[in-house]
Amino acid sequence: MAELPDFAPDPVLVLGIETSCDETAAAVVARDAAGTGRILSNVVLSQFDSHALYGGVVPEIAARAHTECLDVLIRKALDEAGVALGDLSAVAASTGPGLIGGLIVGATSGKALALATGIPFLAINHLEAHALTAGLTDGIRPPYLMLLVSGGHTQLLWVEGTGRYRRLATTIDDALGEAFDKTAKLLGLPMPGGPAVERAALNGNPRRFNLPRPMLGREDPHFSFAGLKTAVRHAAAKISPLSEQDIADLCASFQAAVSDSVADRVRLAIRSVLPLLPEGAPRNFVAAGGVAANKTLRTTLIGIAGEFGFAFRAPPLELCTDNGAMIAWAGAERLAAGLVDGLDAPVKPRWPLDPAAAKAAGAGVKA
Ligand code: KG4
Ligand code: ZN
Repeated sequence: MAELPDFAPDPVLVLGIETSCDETAAAVVARDAAGTGRILSNVVLSQFDSHALYGGVVPEIAARAHTECLDVLIRKALDEAGVALGDLSAVAASTGPGLIGGLIVGATSGKALALATGIPFLAINHLEAHALTAGLTDGIRPPYLMLLVSGGHTQLLWVEGTGRYRRLATTIDDALGEAFDKTAKLLGLPMPGGPAVERAALNGNPRRFNLPRPMLGREDPHFSFAGLKTAVRHAAAKISPLSEQDIADLCASFQAAVSDSVADRVRLAIRSVLPLLPEGAPRNFVAAGGVAANKTLRTTLIGIAGEFGFAFRAPPLELCTDNGAMIAWAGAERLAAGLVDGLDAPVKPRWPLDPAAAKAAGAGVKA
């Protein structure tokens, strides 16, 4: 087994499996009795090339690709960690939300390994795994405010503890990553759209186009990005054909509008959680999801956190995007809290973290 210096003896070792979308991932994470985590291995295989031809993730292709490579990835994760199946304390797999075919592949593999080795199985909510990652990377304990911005989700969460989340806001239409991807597509930029828009914006003027700031100043706490994307389309149509400079200016103006809109929503959320913070508790604001990699957005978020005396944290990029370590860590946290699942745990393509949250008007499957 791998050496674990500065670590309490006998940590639990959890294998994590992630197959909810187009990344196949497996990882082994250790957690000691004091709650300190360590990543022993983290293997991710992106299916990006398999879907590129179709301009989006094709569920059937994703499920087949998971089936083809998951066993090899699990083997690799165990080998890189220097851990044998018999050393594991539990197996965790993401069982929702996500694409049902992929979820079945990961959950079934995880259950089979748990059954064969006689260890507990942990059914992990993918959003909970994103939400708890800051505990693994930065040792941050709840409560804290969380912004989850990915291709499928845009949510502000109040993380009260393992298994206890209050959803403060969600998107009523497109997720933020989706808005980046659609904007990239309409400007003829390559996928994934977020990094392409960010790159183009480097040479652009963020003040050239006066794009709308969705939801700005509204008391309703939610996000909306569909109108902004449409405004980019109209602005582009007016000056078509687009020069490279036009595209750069549109991207920079889009990012400025996104940042202003998100900033306004985050300020509202921080004000709403201030009364929930115990006296003297650290003020932490955590971001995760692929869009949290965006530097313009990060700079904005750091500034807002500072306004309210909050520390801003975002896990390193490879742990912000989908991975197995976050699933293993969420499993280790749930195991420590005694929240073990049976082998009959279902997969749930829709699985809100806060079932009590009111449906946001207009919110579809992403709520
Ligand atoms: O979390 P993630 O890797 O996968 C899920 O959606 O679960 O997020 C992917 C999304 C894509 O929409 C991608 O365009 C966006 O994150 N993204 C970015 C950046 N890097 C990735 N958006 C803006 N700026 C970036 N640098
Ligand atoms: Zn994700």
